[in-house]
Amino acid sequence: MSTPGDSDELPQGVRLTAIDEAFRLDPYPILESLREQAPVLEDRELGRFICTRHDDVKALLHDKAFYTDPRKANPGTFSREIIGRTLGAGDNPSMLLMDEPEHRRLRSLVSAPFKPHAIERWRTHIRGIVEATLDRIEGDEFDLIGQFAGPVPTVVIAEMLGVDPDRHEQFKQWSDLMVQVGFNPFPTEEQSRVGEEAGLALEKYLLELIAAGADEPGEDLLGDMLRAEVEGEKLTPLEIVAQCRLLLVAGNVTTTDLIGNGVKALLEHPEQLRKLREKPELIGNAVEEMLRYDSPVTNSGRIPNRDISIGGCPVAAGSSLSTSLAAANRDPAVYPNPDVFDIEREDTHHQSFGGGRHLCLGAHLARIEAQEAILGLLRRYPGLEQSDRGFVYHAIPSFRGMSEFWVRSGEAGRASPAQ
Ligand code: HEM
Repeated sequence: MSTPGDSDELPQGVRLTAIDEAFRLDPYPILESLREQAPVLEDRELGRFICTRHDDVKALLHDKAFYTDPRKANPGTFSREIIGRTLGAGDNPSMLLMDEPEHRRLRSLVSAPFKPHAIERWRTHIRGIVEATLDRIEGDEFDLIGQFAGPVPTVVIAEMLGVDPDRHEQFKQWSDLMVQVGFNPFPTEEQSRVGEEAGLALEKYLLELIAAGADEPGEDLLGDMLRAEVEGEKLTPLEIVAQCRLLLVAGNVTTTDLIGNGVKALLEHPEQLRKLREKPELIGNAVEEMLRYDSPVTNSGRIPNRDISIGGCPVAAGSSLSTSLAAANRDPAVYPNPDVFDIEREDTHHQSFGGGRHLCLGAHLARIEAQEAILGLLRRYPGLEQSDRGFVYHAIPSFRGMSEFWVRSGEAGRASPAQ
């Protein structure tokens, strides 16, 4: 039986999270060498096993007997000590950290509005939000994240929840601050304090909205959650708040990162950009390739319910498994020329939305937002290019994306709004 690789063998300073600068700037060469040399790596520092081969990642994500509830992990593991402290795992956890049967109950109460046909109804509205956001951009040079990719998903989810337009900005701030601690294994004291305050402020606001809609639920997501009933059971106000927090934390930065990473990939591959401009109908496939090529979520966790062996390496029940979605998506055993960005790639299936019971609930929403946002942006800026002011990758562990990405309209300038 082979033994897992050991984190002591890693190049010095590589902690395999976005906190590490080398990993943040370009995780792919590091992940490639792991996949080749230590596809199951024991990361002793953080108490977890990191898996990088596509087939292992897929099988682990889909194992329905595995847990995600951190309380079921062994003491001293990443899941128990770190995830357990973050991600709202306390008295009122979100479904991401729940196991059956509670997970199934919550997910079925929240899932109807996220089904593809229900989300498709939002497409025209999302297009309107994209156009309005583009209208507000001033100047020939702008930060694509701050002025476009950041606001679009927040406004979409805020409108879906029925948040007043004059609270949208505040809403974005709360969700950004919560993400700083929600997915960060090493928050500073200041980040923890500010994140907690933001969480409480959001909770207070949502409870007010829920109370206001309790008698006559509106035709929005909050209304759907208030009405939802499975086998005579309804969500309590605090359960609704926990799911809303998850929607914000899980849905905003990820979609911003998808739009940002996707536009960056296009600008770095002018022949792909040209192809998409000529054939906008390729957008569906292009967004799938963007998700594969530069996944906004790099890792997802599982806790095995039994002693297992991964590719011949023994892993004990209750260990913390971190599946590297980013590495799986570039496994040459599955994808020919995995480092090539090709919007016409035939097989663009990927692991970026996870899999199995916890498969991303917002996958279709994220897809539609990215499709509409990228097409709208390219239409409005026929000569869009990177500006010399460059970009900055954010340091949120398990996420990959930028906090700043400067672009300019180029010689072609700015087209008038789509009718
Ligand atoms: C590009 C954007 C997004 C990416 C890459 C992404 C990725 C993920 C991943 C990797 C998971 C964990 C899956 C697993 O462990 O098997 C997840 C779960 C989840 N995501 Fe997303 N997500 C995105 C957008 C969204 C949006 C827009 C929403 C909703 C507004 C959302 C809501 C959720 C929820 C509720 C879960 C937990 C599902 C469960 O535990 O059953 N996500 N997402």
